[in-house]
Order: sequence, then structure tokens, then C-alpha cells
Amino acid sequence: MQKLEQVYEGKAKKVFQTDDPELYIVDYKDDATAFNGLKKGTIVGKGVINNQMTNRLMAKMEKAGIPTHFVKELSQRETLVKKVSIVPLEVIIRNISAGSFAKRYGVEEGIVFDAPTIEFSYKNDDLGDPLLNTYHALALKLATREEVETIEKYAFAVNEVLKAFWAECGVTLVDFKLEFGKLSDGTIVLADEISPDTCRLWDSKTHEKLDKDRFRRDLGGVEDAYAEIMNRLLSHDAD
Ligand code: TMP
Ligand code: ASP
Repeated sequence: MQKLEQVYEGKAKKVFQTDDPELYIVDYKDDATAFNGLKKGTIVGKGVINNQMTNRLMAKMEKAGIPTHFVKELSQRETLVKKVSIVPLEVIIRNISAGSFAKRYGVEEGIVFDAPTIEFSYKNDDLGDPLLNTYHALALKLATREEVETIEKYAFAVNEVLKAFWAECGVTLVDFKLEFGKLSDGTIVLADEISPDTCRLWDSKTHEKLDKDRFRRDLGGVEDAYAEIMNRLLSHDAD
């Protein structure tokens, strides 16, 4: 598979064309940002961990019947994926209060919800990814009603698979962000990444944060937390 012209560079990944028009190569960087790019840094080794973790978790999703863009891991930082056009919605599922939810509603972090919540942000850096509801998404023609329904169904299904797997690893899945894409035939698939950059993961016993909040909040031990969460995954993910 030949890596051709770069088509996109995001905050944490680059995307390249290949000699197959239906396939892209994603290349994970160690760059870390927070607060819409205001805070910048490097988490050494993050690209390798996020690549390998995402791929293992995407494979689990496929097994559970949730279609994804994942094709094949090519190297420590590179993965072959199906070409998609990203639906410009950030889909956030929460099981426990934290982050912007706690701030917005003036509640403490750590409240366990009776049922998971879902929310959407408009994926638009210039606007700071504003929150929106289904009516807004339809008005802005970001997706059709059927696509939003499919995305919601898959997002809650991802939550069940992820929550159960992380629980086996002694990790509580607090919340996470997903992105979905459309294949050239219109099929909706899970895309982007599932990693400590995009999930809040707490040690089930100590509630220690094992995710990017250590970077966002200057808690220290960022690289150690990424290594720890990857080790937990590897020791429970026999393949
Ligand atoms: P929030 O509480 O800041 O809204 O974040 C909810 C979840 O989404 C959390 O697991 C981190 C993840 N997230 C991203 O993946 N990218 C982002 O740009 C933001 C703001 C959050
Ligand atoms: N990746 C996001 C940014 O830089 C924020 C985050 O993950 O907190 O905007």
C-alpha cells in the first residue's frame, strides 16, 4: 500500500491518500492540544499508544456488529482505514459527571448516572465546537434524521462494549467522544479514534485519572498514565 499525498492534518493525526481511492492511511502524532488548541504540548509515545489502542478497540466494535473504518494496522503509528467523509458531529456519551458537563450544570464530578447521556457538538474549530441538538443538526444539514438515529444507536452500543471491557481491566469509563464517517455508498461507520485522548478513564478503585485530563489539568504523570492504560488493555485483550 503506497502512502501518497497528505489530505488532512488534524491536531493529533495526519491523513494520507493511498493508491486505492477507497482507502486512507492515518498517521498518529505525539502532539497534544486542549481547549480548542489554546494549550499545546507533546505526550511522548502517545501516537503509538493511541494507534494500537484504537485499532484493538475498533476490532472489538466490529465483533459486536458496529461497523468501523478500520482495515489494518500498518506500523506503530500508521493504520489503513476506509475513506470516509466525516459527519461534522462530535458525539459524546457520558456515564458519570465530569468535564464540561459538571461545569455547565454546576455539579461535582463523579455522579454516576442512572442511564448514559448523549450530546452532540458541531465539529467546527472556528466556532469552538458548539453544542447542538438533533433539530439543529438537521437544520444545518449536518446529517439526515436516519443518519442521526443510526449514529445514536451505534454510540450507545459502543458504550456498552467499551464499559464492559474497561471494567474487566479495572477501569471505569466515565465519558468519551466519537466521530462517524460516511463511506462512498452512504453507509455510516465509526471513524476517528478511541483512546485516552477521547475518553475519560478512571482507575475503578482509586479513581486515578488514566487519560488526557492529566495533560489538560496539569496533573503530571501524563506519559505514565497512557502507558498504564495501554498495559491494562494488553493484559486483558488476548487476540
Ligand atoms: P468534555 O467533558 O470536555 O465535554 O469532554 C467529554 C469527552 O469528550 C471527554 O472524554 C473528552 C472528549 N473530548 C474529545 O475527545 N475532544 C474534545 O475536543 C473535547 C472537548 C472532549
Ligand atoms: N483536542 C481538543 C483541542 O485541542 C481538546 C481536548 O481534547 O480537550 O481542542
